[in-house]
Amino acid sequence: MIPMTVAADQTRIHCSHLSYAYGSGAEEQPVLSGIGFDISAGEFVILTGPSGSGKSTLVTLIGGLRRLQRGQLRVLGSDLAGASEAALVLLRRDIGFIFQDHHLFDALTPRETMHLTMGLRRERYGKQDYLERPERWLTRIGLQRRMDVLPGKLSTGQRQRVAVARALINEPDLILADEPTASLDPESAAITLDCLREAVSQRGAAVLMISHDSRHYALADRVLTLVDGKLV
Ligand SMILES: Nc1ncnc2c1ncn2[C@@H]1O[C@H](COP(=O)(O)OP(=O)(O)O)[C@@H](O)[C@H]1O
Ligand SMILES: [Mg+2]
Repeated sequence: MIPMTVAADQTRIHCSHLSYAYGSGAEEQPVLSGIGFDISAGEFVILTGPSGSGKSTLVTLIGGLRRLQRGQLRVLGSDLAGASEAALVLLRRDIGFIFQDHHLFDALTPRETMHLTMGLRRERYGKQDYLERPERWLTRIGLQRRMDVLPGKLSTGQRQRVAVARALINEPDLILADEPTASLDPESAAITLDCLREAVSQRGAAVLMISHDSRHYALADRVLTLVDGKLV
């Protein structure tokens, strides 16, 4: 039998008793209350619930994009309660983020975006990787003929696909996606979902994806539903 201490911890997100409010004093607006769940390596989890139920707030807390107020949150082994800004910067580097709004730099081509992102993990890559890896990923998302054009010349769906490749090129152990296929054309949506599913099945990434679309539930190992700031 393998002793517990030897087995690598497979928990990617551990969340318990998490609560969060915007504003303070008389203006305080509670948004999340008593949230608890775990997500392990190799799990595809969908987070759903009505608009305004706190889904994006929860995902930005997990991604270290806003400060934890109450409860416990451990992400990729880092404890976020009281984490320093420097620790959060390091954590964010290890997470693949895909948001509804792609946030690409207007002045960078898809290939340059891939290079910039690889540079965050430059210790992993050699010269050959910088030649091959961007082409492989941009081909994977169907942009083999658009690698060197500026985002202004790409369609919305193509730009979002670049954001998907950017989120995945460094093979993060955790991917957080906030409605990544909302308002995408069917081809771009299908490529996005395929890439996420592959990351889970081929290399054991954990995915937490916010989605309203019940057709996506079949992709997921689990569906978490948030209503009025509580998991139901
Ligand atoms: N930066 C903010 N400041 C104040 N209130 C906010 C902020 N962001 C979101 N909210 C409020 O928090 C609640 C949850 O929002 P959000 O997490 O975006 O929900 P969802 O993603 O489920 O639609 C909503 O009532 C929203 O208006
Ligand atoms: Mg949202």
